Amino acid sequence: MSLRNAARAVARATARPWGRAAVPSNADTAVAPLRASGRRQISEFPGGSNGDDAWATRIWNTMRARSRQRSARAFHSSSNAASEGGSATPTSGGGIMVASGHPSSHPQVLVVPLNRRPLMPGVIMPVRVMDERLIQEIEEMKARGQAYVGTFLKRTEGESENVDPSDDMHDIGTFAQVQSVIRVPDISADTLKNEDEKGSSRDDKVDVKAKAEARVRAAKGEDGGGGATLLLLGHRRLRKTATVRHQPMVVRVDHIKDPKVADRDDDDVLKATANEVIATIKDLLKVNPLAKETLQYFAQRFQDFQDPAKLADLAASMCSADDGALQEILDTLDVRERLQAALVLLKKEVELGKLQADIGRRVEEKISGDQRRYFLMEQLKSIKKELGMERDDKTALQEKFRARFAPFKDGAPAHAVKTIDEELNKLAGLEPSSSEFNVTRNYLEWLTSIPWGHSSEERLDISQAADVLDADHYGLEDVKERILEFIAVGQLRGTTQGKIITMVGPPGVGKTSIGQSIARALDRKFFRFSVGGLSDVAEIKGHRRTYVGAMPGKLVQCLKSTGVSNPVVLIDEVDKLGRGFQGDPASALLELLDPEQNGSFLDHYLDVPVDLSKVLFVCTANVLDTIPGPLLDRMEVVRLSGYIADEKRAIARTYLEKTAKERSGVGEKEASISDAAMNSLIEDYCREAGVRNLQKHLEKIYRKVALKLAKAKGPEASKKMGQARNKVAAAKKALEAKEDELKKANVSAKSKKTVEAAEKEVEDAKEALAAAEAAVIEVIESTAMSDPIVVDAGKDLIEYVGQPPFQTDRIYEQTPPGVVTGLAWTSMGGSTLYIECTAIHQNGTDKKGGTLTTTGQLGDVMKESSSIAHTFARSFLAGRFPGNTFFDDNALHIHVPAGATPKDGPSAGCTMITGMISLATDRPVKPNLAMTGEVTLTGIVMPIGGVKEKTIAARRSGVTTILFPEGNKKDWDELSDDIKEGLEVHFVSMYDEVYKHALSAE
Ligand SMILES: Nc1ncnc2c1ncn2[C@@H]1O[C@H](COP(=O)(O)OP(=O)(O)OP(=O)(O)O)[C@@H](O)[C@H]1O
Ligand SMILES: [Mg+2]
Repeated sequence: MSLRNAARAVARATARPWGRAAVPSNADTAVAPLRASGRRQISEFPGGSNGDDAWATRIWNTMRARSRQRSARAFHSSSNAASEGGSATPTSGGGIMVASGHPSSHPQVLVVPLNRRPLMPGVIMPVRVMDERLIQEIEEMKARGQAYVGTFLKRTEGESENVDPSDDMHDIGTFAQVQSVIRVPDISADTLKNEDEKGSSRDDKVDVKAKAEARVRAAKGEDGGGGATLLLLGHRRLRKTATVRHQPMVVRVDHIKDPKVADRDDDDVLKATANEVIATIKDLLKVNPLAKETLQYFAQRFQDFQDPAKLADLAASMCSADDGALQEILDTLDVRERLQAALVLLKKEVELGKLQADIGRRVEEKISGDQRRYFLMEQLKSIKKELGMERDDKTALQEKFRARFAPFKDGAPAHAVKTIDEELNKLAGLEPSSSEFNVTRNYLEWLTSIPWGHSSEERLDISQAADVLDADHYGLEDVKERILEFIAVGQLRGTTQGKIITMVGPPGVGKTSIGQSIARALDRKFFRFSVGGLSDVAEIKGHRRTYVGAMPGKLVQCLKSTGVSNPVVLIDEVDKLGRGFQGDPASALLELLDPEQNGSFLDHYLDVPVDLSKVLFVCTANVLDTIPGPLLDRMEVVRLSGYIADEKRAIARTYLEKTAKERSGVGEKEASISDAAMNSLIEDYCREAGVRNLQKHLEKIYRKVALKLAKAKGPEASKKMGQARNKVAAAKKALEAKEDELKKANVSAKSKKTVEAAEKEVEDAKEALAAAEAAVIEVIESTAMSDPIVVDAGKDLIEYVGQPPFQTDRIYEQTPPGVVTGLAWTSMGGSTLYIECTAIHQNGTDKKGGTLTTTGQLGDVMKESSSIAHTFARSFLAGRFPGNTFFDDNALHIHVPAGATPKDGPSAGCTMITGMISLATDRPVKPNLAMTGEVTLTGIVMPIGGVKEKTIAARRSGVTTILFPEGNKKDWDELSDDIKEGLEVHFVSMYDEVYKHALSAE
């Protein structure tokens, strides 16, 4: 391989930018500041470092020129003619000659001890020197011309105990020319000196301790500043033979020359090794561009790549091997061995470089991978934002919450605003993946979806409200009137306050269903929740936020779902509140239903008081007994008693029949129920207080009618019908949507135009609905059969709803002695009941006269009143009929039949007494007479409850005369005339009067 090719190859391999960061090959303590100066020198070399091929050519040219020079002269071991020269003058102190670099001029040299890395011949290297006297001497030499020194690597093993300090250094060193001496400014030393000069006057201002430390460091020579950096160019090897002077050290040396190249031209092995070294240098340049610097300088100065000895030194200097290995190269004088050893080091270096590059690449890959990911994520974010898909992003969330809360911010109480602000700030600081984040997010979700202070516009129009209420329910005058009063008060005061109205009555009288009508009448939003069987307080008050899956209570949910703070809230079945281990929900309702407290109702989850004072609470219950006293005290009770037959008929005809027909798809005129059939239904089938059962029966009838119609009309007509009805449903939905839009437009105070447009749309939707409904009627008429189906009483009705259940309260046509008709009031409404008394005659020895047995599901209260009755009857009999020993001779048995239902209450007292006396005197009670009333032991008749229900029940079972306690007269007076019609009533205050009306002959 020609020299030219080698240089080319080496140069080409360096085709990498200089600026790339890499590990410095020379790990000298002071490399960083000096590398710059080294590079400056390099770039001063003609051609600099721009353009790698040009650079290679120049190196080549330079070397060729020098080769020519050299061949013209005899080979000189130190061919640096340009830099050598100068006069030899004895130094002032040490007798060191400053002369040319020729060995003969330097039998002894000034020693520059090296702490790290031996200096290789042919290589330039910066060395930091701290010894002031040494520096001065070098400077003096420099001032006179050229300065030459000997560099020796210090031995590392242990602290030196040698008498001769030169023994601390390796024997073989390098003869070096000092290129430059650069003083390193010593700031701390200067300060110290200044301070010393100025004396202790400013001691108080300077940290004494720091000063002392600086002194110690200066003494040790390890200070960051001070000393000088020598730029040394290695020339050839030296072997020190004796120490001439100690401080600074001067030693006597032998100069060692490398053998001549010419002698070794025929040595193929050496040549091959040299080539391999060059090839390896090429490899090294690939992985470590910093080595280029050394190579470049080597080429620039003087070297010939074909001199194996110099090549070995160059190769060694390019390696970052440890000091020992490098010193070994220096110590090796045999060229072949040296080249071998250098090749090994070089190969190691290449491997190291590869490893380093590998590590670098891997790190870079990871970094660029991360960066790529980051950029992609950023891109994704902006795309999502653009598409409005930004979901979980914190800022988007915050914006969402802020936007949602904005319309309510003015109306919201200060603490709510504050809490929301705080929570939003908290959210900003939380990690989205943390559980705390989700808790806060859910909390904000709830906080911002509450209609703080926002109420819907109310309609305070009495006549319109009355129309709405009448449209849905027949009767129920008390409730309706109460609602109208509520509206009137609202009208007069200008604002409405919440109220708590409780409706109590038997099942199926329309308590639940009127709730919705109330909301419609007032044009308020409606929310219903049933508390029947509810045993967890959290349902009302919410969970604490700390629980997993915590939720606010029903009331807060209601505010969220209705979106207003003045809805009508129907709390259904308050009498059936449960009581669990989780606390007492009834007590929780106390706070909710107290007008004094619910202005700042505190839900456990929300933790911010909400205003419920504008809510109209409507509660329903079947009985009042089970409602806790304090709760009942807060309610305004409206009683609903059952319906009498006339009312039922009216309800059935005007409401139930219509809906039943509609639900079964039977046209208005296609079928009907005859009056007789309706009466029979009411009298024989559905005798209970409410109308739910009646409704079921009507639906059953019309379902059967529908079956008949469908069969007769065939599938085509049914299909048409179905389509028409679907259209109606769609039109209804559209109308609702439009109405909602109109409301929203009104609320958000949009421009007049949008509101008008919305109004127009609602009108259109109404028209469409009307048209669809007309279409349905048309279809019905077009497919109608000639004769409408009429359901009649008797056989017809039995066909539709089956045989009437045996349900009469009337067991006796004419009650025998000992049997009396009583009136009871249960949760199902009023009913008549019979009290039967029978005597068991006692004779012989086991006389058990005076005992009393009771059967028939009697509760505690009723059992008590039966024994009171027994006692009173005995005394009454003894008073009226002194000779009558009936009670002494007979054991009594009282039974209340038809009593699978539990009965309790004292109101059967007078009935029992009458039964016993009737039996004792063997006189039947007057026919069709019923009575009710509690009797004390002294015979006073006390008032009872449920007069209306009892009256209705009495009428139902054909009673014509009723005995009521005097105390109930006012209740009777309140009853409407149609209930009282045809009834004879007597008010009694003492039992004597009962006896008179029921049993006495006159
Ligand atoms: N006065 C009435 N006018 C028209 N329909 C009525 C009337 N009373 C009840 N109804 C109808 O009877 C059915 C049952 O009524 P609702 O469910 O309101 O009874 P309730 O009083 O709540 O009974 P419960 O105590 O069992 O809950 C409803 O479909 C309702 O429309
Ligand atoms: Mg109900």
